[in-house]
Amino acid sequence: MRSLLITGASGFLGSHLCLYSQTNWQVWGTYHTQAITHPNVKMLPLDLTDEQSIDACWQQACPDAVIHTAALSKAGQCQQNPDLSYQINVAGTVHLAKCCAQAEIPFIFTSTDLVFDGTCPPYGESDRPHPVNTYGEHKALAEAAVLAQYPAATICRLPLLMGTAMGSAQCFIQATLATIAADTPQTLFTDEIRTPVSVTDAIQGLHLILDQGVSGIWHLGGPQPLNRYELGLLIAESFGVSTTTLKPGLQSSVQLATPRPQDVSLASQKAVALGYMPQSLKVALSVIAQSSSCG
Ligand SMILES: NC(=O)c1ccc[n+]([C@@H]2O[C@H](COP(=O)([O-])OP(=O)(O)OC[C@H]3O[C@@H](n4cnc5c(N)ncnc54)[C@H](OP(=O)(O)O)[C@@H]3O)[C@@H](O)[C@H]2O)c1
Repeated sequence: MRSLLITGASGFLGSHLCLYSQTNWQVWGTYHTQAITHPNVKMLPLDLTDEQSIDACWQQACPDAVIHTAALSKAGQCQQNPDLSYQINVAGTVHLAKCCAQAEIPFIFTSTDLVFDGTCPPYGESDRPHPVNTYGEHKALAEAAVLAQYPAATICRLPLLMGTAMGSAQCFIQATLATIAADTPQTLFTDEIRTPVSVTDAIQGLHLILDQGVSGIWHLGGPQPLNRYELGLLIAESFGVSTTTLKPGLQSSVQLATPRPQDVSLASQKAVALGYMPQSLKVALSVIAQSSSCG
């Protein structure tokens, strides 16, 4: 079996990827601070701020392909720690891309819809990034640097991801449900619009792209745009919990510590033409709710 290195295997996307990928790949995963294990996955420590650590990980795994999900992924953390964000999200990513370029193996870098400023949606692959916060800025810098270093690399821009919790690795659904369970009022913006997708669909998209051997930029958005308030209601409905604590509000009327773009809906026709098929949000959320109650 060919070997696949999944960086960030202790994170939300990486954990789900490890489970899915082992059918056809021998999987190596990396962690940084959370030394977790996944069945059938060989875990390695990795610190993207340290080139020696990247080289050591590389030599041990000796992969046939890399899906790079490790990141400082919270926009607020990047805003508060721009140097660390640069080291992890740009410098570490570029060093890993160089390793892949030398070995001439596939390198898929998971980027974000937040490379856009949200003023001119929906965004296609050829639209120019214009980020409004440090996280988006560093992801956009990394995209350009990766492609400059390794033109055969692949950039997959992901939207908000939805899925079951994998240990402590969670997405915004679990946070929304915890706030509802605590009966704490939550203001959700009606002017903040995203194209969320099930993490399972995003992973199928990543593997489709890996299998097809395509390079360049690809959008793996969800099937429909909707605002944060609509999304909160849909989550509550799917999990059968009360919506009374969810309140609509306007992002434009508040000063955010970390600026967020308003509408970064992704147009994903290019991936759809390749065979990418994200489920409807209702179906995706009902599957997630069912799996969450089983797990
Ligand atoms: N989740 C989303 O909704 C979403 C949306 C768009 C794009 N993305 C992108 O998708 C990717 C995965 O996101 P995610 O939500 O799964 O992130 P996550 O849950 O925050 O996981 C981040 C991973 O990166 C690792 N990491 C952090 N600092 C590191 C360092 N210095 N060296 C090596 N590894 C380090 C973490 O390791 P430890 O936990 O062991 O420290 C963890 O495994 C990211 O590139 C993100 O930008 C995610």
